[in-house]
Amino acid sequence: MNLLTRLPAGAITEAPLSDRYDRVKRKLRVSLTDRCNFRCPYCMPEKPDFLPRPQRLTRVELARLLRLFVAELGVSRLRLTGGEPLLRRDLEAVVAECGELRPLGLERISLTTNAALLARRAEGLKQAGLDDLNISLDALDPATFAKLSGGRDVRPVLAGIAAARAAGLRLKLNAVIVRDINEEQILPLTRWALREALPLRFIEFMPLDGRGEWSRQRVVSQAEILRRLQGEFEVQALPRGNDPAAYYRLQGPGDHPAGAPDVGIIATVSNPFCASCDRLRLTADGALYPCLFSQRGVSLRDTLRAGADDAALAGLIRNTVWHKDAGYAAHPGYAERPIAMNSLGG
Ligand code: GTP
Ligand code: 5AD
Ligand code: SF4
Repeated sequence: MNLLTRLPAGAITEAPLSDRYDRVKRKLRVSLTDRCNFRCPYCMPEKPDFLPRPQRLTRVELARLLRLFVAELGVSRLRLTGGEPLLRRDLEAVVAECGELRPLGLERISLTTNAALLARRAEGLKQAGLDDLNISLDALDPATFAKLSGGRDVRPVLAGIAAARAAGLRLKLNAVIVRDINEEQILPLTRWALREALPLRFIEFMPLDGRGEWSRQRVVSQAEILRRLQGEFEVQALPRGNDPAAYYRLQGPGDHPAGAPDVGIIATVSNPFCASCDRLRLTADGALYPCLFSQRGVSLRDTLRAGADDAALAGLIRNTVWHKDAGYAAHPGYAERPIAMNSLGG
């Protein structure tokens, strides 16, 4: 399908897509499936109810919405997420279709994946036009990795990371830290990432786990992660950018090469970055969630299937975004929510 044949770009653009707190939206996270080959306890419900296919956006519907977000509403970065996006056999085709939006203002196509199925597809994704990817790696120790993935093997993930590098894809690693499970992996992961010259971000466990197992005691805070890093490295805080992570430059005594990347911490619970949030989320069934902590989504799919034109859809998106909540600070602590991380895409 050709994404360029609809309205001319800019036809219904009035102003940047922003919310009532003056936060302009530039990044859209697009969940391509709620299914996953892992069962990370911090993400998946124990017995997930996956979306039946008819509820999922078709490729044509997805293409229409993405074109609207980019050409008419000013979104310039797309991040494809899941569940696990590599479970979509048509992922390369979706990436290539996103690439058609570059002349209309798209600057970056990214992917977030657990990488277990990446090794054989990294090169094809690069060819399809993928710019970069974020890979979850919560532990190097096989037993700890198994606990945090629902019994999976870390080796295919490491092979996926190696293949992504060989294909020339930029990548960052994400490690969610959960008390009593993997805080002892903070230093081994850091040493490994520095040695491999791979950017690594630690993520505080957020209250969106789908199992009700989150509690404040299980959050290993930014301050605690820093204390552990300071036990081995000289740690220098870097100026804050427009990334959810605060970054730190680590030095000595390790054998990592000069120019090794900085280490980040995403501290949604203890130090949220909501004030500068430029993201939106679209679920695989076409619901728009302006915030990770939004209590509900607005179904763009239903409006689209009811026959709405682009101007009506754009109006619904603008209105939904305008009413975006302040963020985590508006819902501190655990909130009962109808959607788990695997459906929301992180
Ligand atoms: P880049 O900044 O483009 O690298 O992407 P990212 O860090 O947003 O993407 P990724 O999928 O790697 O997400 C890493 C972690 O950040 C996950 O735990 C996400 O849930 C979290 N995250 C992403 N976006 C937001 C957000 O808008 N708010 C909060 N609180 N957390 C977010
Ligand atoms: N808290 C923090 N991060 C989470 N992720 C999934 N669930 C949670 C949670 N409860 C992360 C994954 C992945 C990203 C998409 O979201 O580890 O890096
Ligand atoms: Fe799957 Fe990612 Fe959720 Fe783990 S965090 S269960 S890999 S979607």
